[in-house]
Amino acid sequence: MTGDPTYDLVLGAGLLLALVTAVSSLFVTTPYGRFASSRLGPTVPQRVGWMMMEAPALLVFPWVYLHGPRAYEPVPLFFAALWGLHYANRALFFPLTMRLRKGARMGLLVPGSGWLVVPMHAWLFATWYGRLGTHLTPAWWSDPRFLVGVPTYLVGLGLLLHSEAVLRGLRSAREVDDGDGSYKIPHGGGFAWVSSPHYLGELIAWAGIGIAAWNPGALFILTISMANLVPRAVRTHRWYHEHFPDYPAGRRALVPFVF
Ligand SMILES: NC(=O)c1ccc[n+]([C@@H]2O[C@H](COP(=O)([O-])OP(=O)(O)OC[C@H]3O[C@@H](n4cnc5c(N)ncnc54)[C@H](OP(=O)(O)O)[C@@H]3O)[C@@H](O)[C@H]2O)c1
Repeated sequence: MTGDPTYDLVLGAGLLLALVTAVSSLFVTTPYGRFASSRLGPTVPQRVGWMMMEAPALLVFPWVYLHGPRAYEPVPLFFAALWGLHYANRALFFPLTMRLRKGARMGLLVPGSGWLVVPMHAWLFATWYGRLGTHLTPAWWSDPRFLVGVPTYLVGLGLLLHSEAVLRGLRSAREVDDGDGSYKIPHGGGFAWVSSPHYLGELIAWAGIGIAAWNPGALFILTISMANLVPRAVRTHRWYHEHFPDYPAGRRALVPFVF
């Protein structure tokens, strides 16, 4: 694929893992949030589980990237900063600010499987930006792939962050203190169109970064995210309809007007 045997091996293993995840997601719903279950093994507090799952991103990426020969060149630095922005949200801001139901727990299976995916993802991206992406010279600032991919990434990230903020706002800090962790119908922004706009934003963001850095590692994170998030979006949509008789009829699960 890229000519670097180690990179190609990790990427190939990652794509195989995405395929296995796609098949298993048809049968098993990842046990956290509204689908939490203790039937799939031991559980941990949900906030701790999220931070455990994403922590390798904050360790592996900087370590591998900073050991690359291109680590201090401007274009790789720009992409490393986008990585930092994404994971500052996912590994720190998101889990620290979640308004959780009292005693919310997550199956240990979730951070356990994350420890396969997250370090692989971090290694693939850091290796591409810091070492293998030899095309990421200053001429890349004006490459059409950069000019299309970066705005696509930012649109996806904006949709993701806004949708997560809408969900956070559904439970006030006071309700959470009082032990009221009920679910409500979200409105506004991407929720006007679909039930899981944060998932859609995530997929758009990874597609955008793949184009922007012409980064084969993005194929891995995009396919494994689709394997996780497409079935979960469909189940979440069904769950809303089962629990809220007045759920907006025109809203789709993940892709406006499609499904
Ligand atoms: N790349 C990947 O493979 C991957 C996989 C999973 C997640 N993610 C990303 O991680 C982020 C979080 O995902 P998630 O699956 O945890 O999202 P989620 O199930 O929608 O939950 C996000 C937060 O919002 C709360 N929430 C959701 N719906 C609510 C409602 N109707 N009323 C009140 N609160 C509500 C949840 O509370 P509860 O916890 O109490 O339900 C949780 O704190 C997303 O942006 C997603 O894209 C990525």
